[in-house]
Amino acid sequence: LQTKKDQLLAVHESATAFYHQVLMNTVTGEEALKYLKERGFTTELLEEFQIGFSPSDKTATQQIMKQRNYSEQLMRESGIFSDRTDSDELLDRFASRIIFPLRNEKGQTIAFSGRTLPKKALESSDFHEAKYLNSPETVLFSKRNYLFNLDKARVQMRKTSEVVLFEGYMDVISAWNAGVKNGVASMGTALTEEQIRILNKMVDSVVITFDGDRAGLEATKKAVDLLNDSRHFEVSVFPMLGGMDPDDYIQQKGAPAFLEGLSNQRESSFQFQSRYLKANLDLDSETNRLVYLEKVLRMLVEVDSIIERELYLNELSEEFELDPAVLKNQLLIYQQEFM
Ligand code: CTP
Ligand code: MN
Ligand code: MN
Ligand code: MN
Ligand code: MN
Repeated sequence: LQTKKDQLLAVHESATAFYHQVLMNTVTGEEALKYLKERGFTTELLEEFQIGFSPSDKTATQQIMKQRNYSEQLMRESGIFSDRTDSDELLDRFASRIIFPLRNEKGQTIAFSGRTLPKKALESSDFHEAKYLNSPETVLFSKRNYLFNLDKARVQMRKTSEVVLFEGYMDVISAWNAGVKNGVASMGTALTEEQIRILNKMVDSVVITFDGDRAGLEATKKAVDLLNDSRHFEVSVFPMLGGMDPDDYIQQKGAPAFLEGLSNQRESSFQFQSRYLKANLDLDSETNRLVYLEKVLRMLVEVDSIIERELYLNELSEEFELDPAVLKNQLLIYQQEFM
């Protein structure tokens, strides 16, 4: 006899196949398919990630499931159907959305995320629906324990002992297509302790490349701090500038430029922290310059490599037109306080 988990996995497998079929081979999926192709998805890539589309008819999925003899109870527990109680009917919560199957580390689909199609300006004026909608927490799926693409990325993660951390599915898939085979996404912004524990077992190095907007910068700051607190990882950041996200970057500048940047334009944890500090301080004011210098020197205390410390110290001395010996003296004082 199948366990509840096995049954729920079977439901998800059926749904994945159904959504994928709708996208690839039906008129219902045409608009979504066109949109995805315009965004650079090849047929091969759509197959690889089993991307799908859920029909606008909210009862279509339920009908398919009934044909396969899944019980109503099981369908309710799957999280695929809307739990709004004004109707007893099983209505697909992802209707009219592009479907990203969320697979566990074994490659089994355990949840879905649905993305809206871009609406024409006239239709979208009155109310705003969330761009992405995820399955709720179920027996199979817990968001804080989940990293998107772990099943595909784990081989390369082990091989290189490194993971590239993205914000979104689109970024992971785009980067995968560009040749980054060790990329995962943290399901939106905040990285959790649970996700860090998963990474801890697999890699020593984390490269963060979140979106280049304000939210992405704040999320990067939080992730860098959390990862550093665990004292396990070498942490670096490939910064996205001008509001771009990695997917935008790849579309605009091309895959080779992204790969090149990912290996050669990384900021160390210290460099990121300095930039973050600067983004929040107006350095035209002398008071702020002093605040900045003190904070940066205190951060420098925690940089282990003597060579790196020397390098950053010289950069600071040039930037603020200060004698390196003076900065070094101040650094020594902070070092003694720190010990
Ligand atoms: N996200 C979410 N719910 C939302 C918005 C975002 O769960 N309403 C999560 C998704 O996991 C998404 C990630 O946050 O992949 C990043 O969001 P965002 O940058 O807004 O989306 P993109 O990945 O850039 O998607 P697209 O390029 O299609 O706009
Ligand atoms: Mn197929
Ligand atoms: Mn974002
Ligand atoms: Mn984004
Ligand atoms: Mn994007």
